[in-house]
Amino acid sequence: MHIDILTVVPELLTSPFEHSIMKRAQDKGLLTVQVHHLRKWAVNEYGQVDDYQYGGGAGMVMMCEPLANAIEELSKEKNYDEIIYLTPDGERLNQQIANTLSLKGNLLMICGHYKGIDERIRQQYITKEISIGDYVLSGGELAAAVLVDAIGRLLPGVLNDETSALTDSFQDNLLAPPVYTRPVDFRGNKVPDVLMSGNHKK
Ligand code: ADE
Repeated sequence: MHIDILTVVPELLTSPFEHSIMKRAQDKGLLTVQVHHLRKWAVNEYGQVDDYQYGGGAGMVMMCEPLANAIEELSKEKNYDEIIYLTPDGERLNQQIANTLSLKGNLLMICGHYKGIDERIRQQYITKEISIGDYVLSGGELAAAVLVDAIGRLLPGVLNDETSALTDSFQDNLLAPPVYTRPVDFRGNKVPDVLMSGNHKK
């Protein structure tokens, strides 16, 4: 799977994919993530990508032109299955959505900043709008990182048997059980007997 991410703060998206399971996915060649700085498509030499909103109101809006040019240029290289806008008023992310997206080949994620992106871009280019929860973040970057992680770990071959996504919480609509490791007795608080019985099924 290949994921392109469009952002005005690429620095926020360096570390999340350089460690642990996302790193392994990329090292194995199962996932590629490319972060693109929207300023590359700025409307002037000052790097402008946002402007005041019509009708008044505080906060800037990300302009049509840089976003449209970026999406069109990137779309020439990749045939995107979905162009996803991360936004608090999108569809709330859950395991089912992550499962569905993990079956795709190419995704483009757009991170909003300031007051968000011009509505016309949403209407014209965005095929899916996703929220990671009912709260407002400063931008879509951390939400994109969450989404990439939720999808990336589902790609076949990324997880081994021990960490299999099939035993994750929510994967079968059940929460995973509590887990324990050594020692058996931590300051008088013991691991439940059933886990010590040697009967895995139980
Ligand atoms: N951008 C700002 N807040 C967000 C949220 N909760 N989910 C996705 N993108 C966002």
